[in-house]
Amino acid sequence: MKSLSTNEIRQYWLDYFADHGHMVVGSSSLVPADDPTLLLINAGMNQFKDTFLGLEKRDYKRATTSQKCMRVSGKHNDLDNVGPSPRHHTFFEMLGNFSFGDYFKQDAITMAWDLLVNKLGLPVERLWFTVYTDDDEAMRLWIETGAAPERVLRFGKKDNWWSMGDTGPCGPCSEIHYYWGDLDKQVADGVNKDDEYLEIWNLVFMQYDAKADGTLVPLPAPSVDTGGGLERFASILQGKDNNYDTDAFVPIMDRIQQLAGQSDAERQANLYRYRAIADHARACTFMIGDGVLPGNEGRSYVLRMILRRAARFGKLIGFDQPFLAQVAEVVIDQMGSHYTDLPAKEAYIL
Ligand code: GLY
Repeated sequence: MKSLSTNEIRQYWLDYFADHGHMVVGSSSLVPADDPTLLLINAGMNQFKDTFLGLEKRDYKRATTSQKCMRVSGKHNDLDNVGPSPRHHTFFEMLGNFSFGDYFKQDAITMAWDLLVNKLGLPVERLWFTVYTDDDEAMRLWIETGAAPERVLRFGKKDNWWSMGDTGPCGPCSEIHYYWGDLDKQVADGVNKDDEYLEIWNLVFMQYDAKADGTLVPLPAPSVDTGGGLERFASILQGKDNNYDTDAFVPIMDRIQQLAGQSDAERQANLYRYRAIADHARACTFMIGDGVLPGNEGRSYVLRMILRRAARFGKLIGFDQPFLAQVAEVVIDQMGSHYTDLPAKEAYIL
């Protein structure tokens, strides 16, 4: 298996899909452009919503992105899991490849397998695949591509139907899960249930536009939207069983420890608080970088809530002075090579 830093994984992904005819498109702002159904960007496909719906034409039919996302409100909300969970974040980067009426299930599955197994070297004996209840085609394609039949499982709407909100593009999906426990202890029953089974990539076969009354109107053409968790890939490719032990978070947590003047034992005793502060520092850095200011409503309220949570966790571990700007410096330092607007706006953000 390859060993890659978080920055290298992002680049590897974009290069792989560029080599397969995809346009590399920059992340959109966390603030949705002109979409009243959405408070904050929650998936890579958001910036392509109108393209899937056939309302906007682009001069490419395949795209790849690493998208800044937040899941703190609405249909996708992970806030309460941040800290105790080894893998949930308010802010995260979603890696994606998209087909706008170009390829569909066959190529989406073949490329996913090729990238994960042939290129990155993930062991097939740790991978599990899920398909929507009646999606026989996806089931067959995974098996033809190389998956062992007993490792392809069917799940219902809760797990294998994806929509960005109550309305808009949606469709059946097929997920890839990575098992990181003892090899001989894995069982099909653990998928979508136990923490040792990590969902790493979701391939959505976009087919419908969900209307407010629940009607599913077929999209102009079957399309593909995928979402892979960069921080989760980093945990696998760096041999860590949780995202906070990867190079995306360790330097941030080291800075918190250094500023707090705490021992390793004190850091361990306050682990969930360190994780939440590190997560929230990333979220605040990117939200402020994208022009959100703390306030009483909407996304401004989300930012204020996250800032307050970070400050409160800081207080609980012993800070009695502002500290978050110094933590944000590390975020900008780590991610500024890809998100070049961060260093450009550093003074403002801090
Ligand atoms: N749009 C795919 C996902 O968020 O999983």
